[in-house]
Amino acid sequence: MFRTIEWIDGVNKVRLVDQTKLPLTVEHIETDSHERIAKSIKIMEIRGAPAIGAAAGMGMALAALESKAKSKEELVKKLEEAALTLNTRPTAVNLTWATRRMLNLAVATEGSVTGIIDRLIEEAKEIAEEDVRMCRAIGENTLPFIKSGYTIQTICNAGSLATVHLGTVGAVVRVAHEKYGNIKVYAAETRPRQQGARLTTFEFMEDGIDTTLITDGMIGTVFRDGRIDCCVVGSDRILGTGHVTNKIGTYTMAIVAKHHGIPFYVVAPMSTVDMNTRPEDVVIEERDPDEIRLINGTPVTVPDAKVYNPAFDITPPELITAIITDKGAVENPTEEKMRRLYES
Ligand code: MRU
Repeated sequence: MFRTIEWIDGVNKVRLVDQTKLPLTVEHIETDSHERIAKSIKIMEIRGAPAIGAAAGMGMALAALESKAKSKEELVKKLEEAALTLNTRPTAVNLTWATRRMLNLAVATEGSVTGIIDRLIEEAKEIAEEDVRMCRAIGENTLPFIKSGYTIQTICNAGSLATVHLGTVGAVVRVAHEKYGNIKVYAAETRPRQQGARLTTFEFMEDGIDTTLITDGMIGTVFRDGRIDCCVVGSDRILGTGHVTNKIGTYTMAIVAKHHGIPFYVVAPMSTVDMNTRPEDVVIEERDPDEIRLINGTPVTVPDAKVYNPAFDITPPELITAIITDKGAVENPTEEKMRRLYES
C-alpha cells in the first residue's frame, strides 16, 4: 500500500508517487518547489481530493521556505500568491481547504519568520497525518454497512493513491477485508483517465483483494445480474444540501443502483464537506479534449472531433443511501442532517 506523498525532513523536500506512470512503473518525484507541486496537481501526477489537499498543504510550506521573506507581511503575501498558483483544479474542495488553512495559520502565528515557517512545515505534515487517521475512521464508521462476503462496486480511485495512505473507499474495503477476509471489489474503468483500471485494480490486487475490472458501460448488466451488494464511492465535494460531486460516471452509477435497489454509499473526510456552496455554483472541471480523442497517445477518432470532457458530476441526495465521514454517518441525507453532522 502506497504512501502517496510525504515530507522529507532534513532536506525539506516533498516526495510523491507519479500516478501518471502507474501501474507500469513506480516512479517518484522529489521537489522543493511549490510551482512543481502545482504542476503535479494540474497534470494529475498526484490526484484524488484528499491527496491534492495534502499536496497543496506541503506546497504552501515549500512556498514559505522559497520566499526568503524578511517580515511576516512579506511571507503572507508570498503565501497568498502560492495559494493561487496551487489551486489548479477547481472542483475538489480539499485544495482550497488546505491552502486556506495554511494561510490562516501564517496570519495567526506570532514570532519570527523562521518560527512561522517551521510552524507551517509542521502543519503541512499534520494535514497529511490527519488524513491517514480520517481514512481509518471512515473505514471503521462504514463497517456496520458492509457484511461478510460483500462485493463492492466502486468508480475512479478513492484508494490509498487518492489520499495520503489507506484511502477512503480503500479504507472501507481494507477494514472490512481485515474483519471478514472475503470482501470483493468491482472496479469501473473510469474513462477517460482510467483511474479504476490503472490505480484501483492495481492497488487492491497488490493487497490480495479479489478485484474485477469492468468498463463503465457494463454497470447496468452487472447490477441487473446481482453481482453487486453495494456501491461505495469517494467524493471531491459534499455539499450542505447532501449533493455529492465525484468522478464523472458516479451519477449514472447512482441512478442504476437506485433502479436495482442496490445501496449507494459515499465516503469522505470532513475536509471534503463544503457547507457554503449551492449545487448550481459548483465549478465542474473540464479537461483537455485530447483525453477523449486519444488513448495512451493513440488517436481513436478524427483529430478535430468535437468533445465534451467534464471530469466530475453531481449526484443528488435522493440517490444516496448514506454519506459516511470520519465523524459519523448520515443516512438518507438532507440539508438538516448535514448541518447537524457539520455542527457536531
Ligand atoms: O480526477 P481525479 O482522479 O482527481 O478524481 C478523483 C475522484 O473523483 C475521487 O473519487 C475523489 O477525489 C475521492 S478520492 C478519496
